[in-house]
Amino acid sequence: MSGPNTDYDPVEVAAVSPAEVEAARDAALAAIAAAADLEQLKAVRSEHAGDRSPLALANREIGALPPQARKEAGQRVGQARGAVNKALAARQVELEAENEARILVEEAVDVTLPTDRDPVGARHPLTTGSELIADIFVAMGWEVAEGPVIEAEWLNFDALNLGPDHPARTMQDTFWTEPADNHVVLRTHTSPVQARTMLTRTPPIYVVCPGRVFRTDEYDATHSPMFHQVEGLAIDEGISMAHLKGTLDHFATQMFGEGITTRFRPSYFPFTEPSAEVDLVCFVCRGSQVNDEGETCRTCRGEGWIEWGGCGIVNPRVLQACGVDSSRYSGFAFGMGIDRTLMFRHGLEDLRTLFEGDVRFTTAFGSEL
Ligand code: PHE
Repeated sequence: MSGPNTDYDPVEVAAVSPAEVEAARDAALAAIAAAADLEQLKAVRSEHAGDRSPLALANREIGALPPQARKEAGQRVGQARGAVNKALAARQVELEAENEARILVEEAVDVTLPTDRDPVGARHPLTTGSELIADIFVAMGWEVAEGPVIEAEWLNFDALNLGPDHPARTMQDTFWTEPADNHVVLRTHTSPVQARTMLTRTPPIYVVCPGRVFRTDEYDATHSPMFHQVEGLAIDEGISMAHLKGTLDHFATQMFGEGITTRFRPSYFPFTEPSAEVDLVCFVCRGSQVNDEGETCRTCRGEGWIEWGGCGIVNPRVLQACGVDSSRYSGFAFGMGIDRTLMFRHGLEDLRTLFEGDVRFTTAFGSEL
């Protein structure tokens, strides 16, 4: 660039000619209007308003013009640059607003979507049900006892007056473990916990034992090779069948509601004498044998009663085998299926729903108790 030159004709200086300045301004304004996002606007700014833009170069030419021409050109270029800067600022505001609006839409949070795709589930009804049963007895001052599911044959059978040749051994289809001469089984009932308790404690004894048991049953809607029982054992002086009946009536009422009591039917178990089957008043028809429409009750099939479990006065031979003085103490025992009890309580038709681990089942029944 040269110094001031009085002979210089500004109209001849292409960069600052009205047509050039106008063209540069219009090109800039068109580019600004066309910029679709902030990124593009940034490029437009450096191209049309940056140091090397036509209008910046024109601005630099002005200094070399004679005073009169300089004024005119200065106004022209200044106005053009002003218009471009104003348009840039306006477009910037517009695009920023658009950008924000787009982010709001794109990043919008749908608060109605499920928050957790891995449902947490609930405690299993067998767990909560077993606890409920235990609580009913703990409230009467009983204790909860436990035993192993892999059990000595002697405790599962012999101690309970079921010697090797006792025909009643076949009442419980047993899973034996190998080698057979270890005499170890998967316990077929919770009754070995009776034996374990009597062997390790001195009377009075009041224990309840919920737990898993195993039998070689088919797996269907009412059977399973693994199921749950709850055992009760009371050993004290002067225990009679009346105590047993009162305890089971209380248990039934706590589980199923007022008016649901029990009846005994004579039965046989080697470990109790006398023995009984316990039935519950049908909690659907409440013993009336018919439903509201007068049809035969489907739950008890018109019996008015539902089978619940087995019970009896502990056979003195069992007391003796387990080191309890049978001349001083007597006792009662009972055992029933927890799964069956829960099926009644929740109106379940298929036992298998209790074992299949479907979280929808657990959430529906698990936390209720
Ligand atoms: N153990 C018996 C069974 O599983 C039930 C029972 C327990 C019967 C205690 C009497 C006394 O069939």
